[in-house]
Amino acid sequence: MKQVAILISGRGSNMEALCQGSHAPKAGYNVCRVISNRPKAEGLNWASTNGFEGVALDHKQFPTKAAFEAKLHAELITAKADYVCLAGFMRLLSAEFVQAWRGRLLNIHPSLLPSFAGLTPQQKALDAGVRISGCTVHFVSEIMDAGPIIAQTAVPVLSDDNEDTLSDRILKAEHLTYWPALSAVCKGQISWTEGDRARLSGPLDTKLYGCLDF
Ligand code: GRF
Repeated sequence: MKQVAILISGRGSNMEALCQGSHAPKAGYNVCRVISNRPKAEGLNWASTNGFEGVALDHKQFPTKAAFEAKLHAELITAKADYVCLAGFMRLLSAEFVQAWRGRLLNIHPSLLPSFAGLTPQQKALDAGVRISGCTVHFVSEIMDAGPIIAQTAVPVLSDDNEDTLSDRILKAEHLTYWPALSAVCKGQISWTEGDRARLSGPLDTKLYGCLDF
């Protein structure tokens, strides 16, 4: 059973889905800590009232980014985290931190990467006029939203969509995608050991492909 820490900054709906997913049979992971850089994050309340250990680590209380990350790293070690999931965590992590957790640090992004990296990806998808968007779970590398892809789920972009309606549809897909992707990583079915792509080892896991049957 792998130990997973989840980093949040706000609402925490993906964190909630990851926590719920940990109860699934054969999930292969346990959520050992929820850490928020914002003490008032709604997600922290949910975690503590649902039996998950929540910790606030306010980045504003640290003199430098390095000092904040050193404390974050120490907290993850104390929690015995094997993997770390970013779930709406709104701080950019340094190359040093990312390297220390290489292959063990996951993120979810609300677009089909490499399209629409960075902020407001749903609006970027609308502006580009794409018919399909979705979400991507990926390993975190030094370049934002560019690490090896683990899983993706596609959703339609409808002609009367606005940023909110598209974001809601993608968010539902995020909740269905993140925990099975994490589970596959925790069970050693997919890993990032070399190069710039994640490798599947073992049988094809269709949960990593949110699209029509193949
Ligand atoms: C999600 O859309 C996630 O993909 C993005 O930020 C949002 C966080 O939402 N990185 P929540 O806090 O998980 O509800």
